[in-house]
Amino acid sequence: VTTSELILLATIQQVKETLKPLHCAGKKIGFVPTMGYLHQGHLSLVEKARQECEIVVVSIFVNPTQFSPGEDLSRYPRNIESDLERLRELGVDYVFTPTNQEMYHHNHLTWINVEKLSDRLCGKSRVGHFQGVATVVLKLINVVRPDAMYMGEKDFQQLLVLEKMINDLDLDTRIVRCPTVREQDGLAMSSRNSYLSPAARQRALSLHNTLQMAQNTFTAGETEVESLLIKMKEHLSQSVDKIDYIEIVDNETLEPINNLNKHCRVLIAAFVDGTRLIDNIEIL
Ligand code: PAF
Repeated sequence: VTTSELILLATIQQVKETLKPLHCAGKKIGFVPTMGYLHQGHLSLVEKARQECEIVVVSIFVNPTQFSPGEDLSRYPRNIESDLERLRELGVDYVFTPTNQEMYHHNHLTWINVEKLSDRLCGKSRVGHFQGVATVVLKLINVVRPDAMYMGEKDFQQLLVLEKMINDLDLDTRIVRCPTVREQDGLAMSSRNSYLSPAARQRALSLHNTLQMAQNTFTAGETEVESLLIKMKEHLSQSVDKIDYIEIVDNETLEPINNLNKHCRVLIAAFVDGTRLIDNIEIL
């Protein structure tokens, strides 16, 4: 266990002032943006940042602008004490924990919209979600000015939206993609898994099983997408309450494809007991 002195920063000015000399000294800064309630998926990002960077900054901020009306903003799980304990153990240097007022001044009017990529998949049912994500992440990048930002592939669409924003706006950072971390039985780790009862959690496993069907089909030499999608929907609908989407898409554009190919992505969003869960795999 590393025992480092973790420093908590609450304001944008504190972060800028604290990191300025480190930037000037040319230190490599790694950043992990989170909404807290940290699980092994988050911690794997922090571990990677710790291995690769001299300074590691984590933000914990439940960003209100990426929740649509009626979603789980007010009950989103939080446990700042346990989060800080775990980050301390991993040797994180700075944790930024701003308030809503600190991140959004009372008349905030500026929003980042990454066209096309934001409108598909999760963007269809969570209107405004990616605008909220892109806006807060751009603000965080501007405050922390990291050399590298560590993000998980579980939110694959988010990853592509943010990579596009970084590229289009010539930001001086890059995203390090990190693999989805799963429970032993295959369930993708997510803070929202804490909403699931044991029975619902069991049903949630079908997201991963359904994704495995796609991989097995490709491995068996089948490439036709349409019939596979029908089989996957049939299988998934036996366990979940509602399918938001199942799509097989190009790994970079997120456009639907007709034939399975190496490196295409299969993405699922579905509701189990009122909890919206997402998962995806790359076909290999
Ligand atoms: O993936 C998340 O936890 C959030 O969308 C992020 C990137 C921290 C922005 O609020």
